[in-house]
Amino acid sequence: MVHIWPIGGGKGGSGKSFLASSLGRLLAGLGKKTLLIDLDLGAANLHTLVDVPYPEKCLSDFIRNEITLLENIVLETPVPNLFLISGAQDNLDIANLPYDKKIKTLKAISKLKYEYIFLDLGAGTSFNTLDFFLTSRNGIFITTPEPTSIENVYRLMRAIYFRRIRHYFTATAFRALEEKVRRKFGDNSFNKPECIISVVKKYHSEKYLQLENDFNSFKFKLIINQLRKQDNIALGSQICKIIEKHLGFHVDFSGNIAYDEHVHDAICQRVSFLDRYPHTLAANDLRELSKRISNSAGEQLMLHYL
Ligand SMILES: Nc1ncnc2c1ncn2[C@@H]1O[C@H](COP(=O)(O)OP(=O)(O)OP(=O)(O)O)[C@@H](O)[C@H]1O
Ligand SMILES: [Mg+2]
Repeated sequence: MVHIWPIGGGKGGSGKSFLASSLGRLLAGLGKKTLLIDLDLGAANLHTLVDVPYPEKCLSDFIRNEITLLENIVLETPVPNLFLISGAQDNLDIANLPYDKKIKTLKAISKLKYEYIFLDLGAGTSFNTLDFFLTSRNGIFITTPEPTSIENVYRLMRAIYFRRIRHYFTATAFRALEEKVRRKFGDNSFNKPECIISVVKKYHSEKYLQLENDFNSFKFKLIINQLRKQDNIALGSQICKIIEKHLGFHVDFSGNIAYDEHVHDAICQRVSFLDRYPHTLAANDLRELSKRISNSAGEQLMLHYL
């Protein structure tokens, strides 16, 4: 069974790709066959973090049917057991992947034979990002301690929440739901989760129960990256409490990754931070996180949710 961890964070630069490459490096080092997939379509750069030269084949070749088998675009990295599917040559129209292409890509991913697969997602809340994130119950959110980054990760969580609710309704039924929410709570109420859910509960009790089961089954995780000495180490747990209160779903705080200037040096030198600076606090944090993540069961792709 393949374990899939999508990695998302609302803001660019929060450390999604650094985390994907680091967790991949650590699990591959334990002998686990691990694949990184760069789904930051239109802005892919994961190949640089794992020291793969500018890739000659990438996801766009598969999406455009120029290469039929997804296996054939898998690239080796300098690290044994660590593989990469790059999105590097994709141009911007692929950043808005049509539904059928998304399904085709996900189905092919679910058939790949790897123990661990990390999906490095793009910043923002595009449908691509939301749908790729929701293909596993074990999505990982990452943010820095800065309020702007927290704001964006919250926005991503909320968008995921809406996307999930949207899945239970036809387009017409969803418009009717929106109308009811506005009538009951006012014009700006449709972006307030508590207003929507109270209307779903009242008028669509069966769907409400399904949704509740659905959200209870998620095992989302939150990681705070680039934590400096002066930052609040309890920030992650506090954010998780706020999410539970406002969005009604549980997110596990998985831990902090310390800010370390050597990360920049390692990336500029195109070497693995973990290999070059193994005795730093940040490297230690990453090792702890990788243990925690690999001990928790991952999820096979939930294609039926799309
Ligand atoms: N723990 C850390 N300590 C210091 N710097 C870090 C740390 N993590 C990430 N960085 C810095 O942040 C930069 C952005 O990281 P990364 O490319 O992983 O972000 P991203 O979320 O993938 O961004 P994008 O959405 O643009 O793809 C890195 O190039 C690195 O310089
Ligand atoms: Mg990135």
